[in-house]
Amino acid sequence: MGSDHGPRLSQGGIPRCRPRRLESAVLPQCGGRIGGMTTSARNRVRVRGFAEGDRDVVVALWARVFGEGAPRNAPGPMLDRKLAQGDGLVWVAEDGPGGAIVGAVAAGYDGVRGWIYHLAVDEAHRRRGIATALLRAAEVELARRGCPKVNLQVMGNNAAVVALYEAAGYAVEDRISMGRVLDV
Ligand SMILES: CC(C)(COP(=O)(O)OP(=O)(O)OC[C@H]1O[C@@H](n2cnc3c(N)ncnc32)[C@H](O)[C@@H]1OP(=O)(O)O)[C@@H](O)C(=O)NCCC(=O)NCCS
Repeated sequence: MGSDHGPRLSQGGIPRCRPRRLESAVLPQCGGRIGGMTTSARNRVRVRGFAEGDRDVVVALWARVFGEGAPRNAPGPMLDRKLAQGDGLVWVAEDGPGGAIVGAVAAGYDGVRGWIYHLAVDEAHRRRGIATALLRAAEVELARRGCPKVNLQVMGNNAAVVALYEAAGYAVEDRISMGRVLDV
């Protein structure tokens, strides 16, 4: 996490605000209009830990955003497997306290590296800083658990998400990602 997360000016002179340190999952306070949304619209979003009762909404969100994909990626079973770990590493973003769930993310930590999975924001609520706030919530908790580094994988053609992670301080690293599907 080497980049500066402090307030900065975009090319158009619009104030851009990001949390300076990994200490808060609430959206930063800053004046003016950002990305076409008023700051009050940005600031009414609240990130909280996944709660019982969120399952179907998060499954539906992931299905809308990612589709069903291969059986191993089916959102329902995937979330159930994640929740069965009982590690408390799933967060949702509410459009105001008690409001609709408009974003979600899962993370993992095995003592070596932290991982970010399935960061998703409902299409109608993008560019409000919601993904960034979800990411920060995961990072804060991973750091609290002593995790020294966070990794993630994105599809090579997903320019939007690469831009998001670069804006959040992540760098593309010279690694080859390998995987093998297991029979379960
Ligand atoms: C990628 C995604 C999670 C971003 O969510 P979001 O809430 O819109 O992201 P944020 O508002 O926090 O964006 C923060 C910054 O990331 C960059 N960014 C985000 N989306 C971008 C896009 N479509 N194009 C270019 N830059 C983008 C911008 O720098 C943005 O700051 P700005 O709005 O002030 O310019 C959302 O588009 C999404 O759900 N996509 C589909 C699912 C996906 O691909 N998930 C990742 C797989 S792990």
